[in-house]
Amino acid sequence: MTSIFDYAIPDHIPENLIFALDGDTHPELKKNPFKVFANLPNEAPPIFFNPAAFQGAGGWSISDGAIIKEVLQSPELFSSKNNTGFSFLLGQELDLIPLEIDPPEHRGYRSHFNVPLSPREVAKREDAIRASAIELIEAFESKGRCDFVEQFAVQFPVRIFMDLFGMPRTDFDKILDYEYKLLHVSNTIETRAQAARDIYDYLLKLIAEKRANPKDDLASSILEFTVDNRPLTDKEIMGMYFLLFVGGLDTVASSLGFAWRYLASNPAAQQGLRDNPESIPSAVEEFFRMHSVVEVRRCVTEDMEFHGVQLKQGDFVNCITAVASLDSKEFADPLNADFERSPNRHCAFVFGPHRCMGSNLARLEIRIALEEWLNRIPDFSIADDADIDVNLGAVVSLAKLPLVW
Ligand code: HEM
Repeated sequence: MTSIFDYAIPDHIPENLIFALDGDTHPELKKNPFKVFANLPNEAPPIFFNPAAFQGAGGWSISDGAIIKEVLQSPELFSSKNNTGFSFLLGQELDLIPLEIDPPEHRGYRSHFNVPLSPREVAKREDAIRASAIELIEAFESKGRCDFVEQFAVQFPVRIFMDLFGMPRTDFDKILDYEYKLLHVSNTIETRAQAARDIYDYLLKLIAEKRANPKDDLASSILEFTVDNRPLTDKEIMGMYFLLFVGGLDTVASSLGFAWRYLASNPAAQQGLRDNPESIPSAVEEFFRMHSVVEVRRCVTEDMEFHGVQLKQGDFVNCITAVASLDSKEFADPLNADFERSPNRHCAFVFGPHRCMGSNLARLEIRIALEEWLNRIPDFSIADDADIDVNLGAVVSLAKLPLVW
């Protein structure tokens, strides 16, 4: 077992603020991370230094929902430049745009996505999204069992993203393979780096194809975007393509996995949604709150005292969105589902300038998946009391979810 003495801790960190949060100190993280996150305010100081964060490099983390929101809403003090680690994996500088650009420049890039990812525009995709959900479910419906993660949750958002982006369906297996290799934290760093480079090369070809033969899709629209009255550079276009590729796939897959795990373990909740399908949109919102899957990273821009803690320029801060979404100061009985919860200002899509631009699409995907699933699949449960591990990382996800009905 790792102890905090095994980590190198920077000199400016006071001992009383060191609190290790990892699979060794908290074995339950691998089974039910959300329970651990909900309990964090009882265990750790509001701002603490987690020596295990960022693959053992160490970084600040926060156990108070209000402070998490404050960090996310203060980009001048907490920068998101270089925050995803993809430049490292790619072996070259690439800003994922708009995520790794700070205000005020950020806005000029982000504003282009307002229309194509607006509720009205994504609603136009409803029929195609529904058709994808039905096709995937019908492939295993009569078998009475499936691995939900592998056979539905991972595949569904890939199909939708490929349609949105205008990528040929014939590339589906290739894209799925890249996604598995890149995003599964259990893969070696070499495998993940190779997958990042393969995606980069694939997207490079896609840019050339869309330039030669533009269509009515998001990938073609991005080529027309301007910033400061000039066209985007090739690198900026790649930064946008790459972000959309990595941002909208495993996040949706993981959110689906946790929602279905909850329903599979709670027959009354399943029945409630079958009896009252009009509750599905607010149930989706509650699932986002109960299982906010992303941990975001920020970098301190200047030495400062923040809520009584001395932070140094260059320190990393980890904001676990689930900690804010499960904060009992804001949400009564936070670990329990309340499909009528209102207001429900959860943090799954963060707050501040980088608020997720794909939230409308994500909501639509999960609502449709639930509607079609409950229409077709009778009472379902987890197969053979399977022991299901959680993959920890920037996006927490289920490794598998065997279901039977
Ligand atoms: C359940 C699914 C999703 C979750 C939980 C999620 C979560 C997030 C979070 C937490 C951020 C902020 C990251 C940060 O501040 O460092 C973010 C940003 C972003 N997301 Fe999502 N996301 C989801 C789906 C999607 C989808 C489907 C798309 C695109 C089609 C998308 C596109 C983006 C973009 C473009 C940004 C950057 C916004 C900016 O920097 O201004 N996301 N997302």
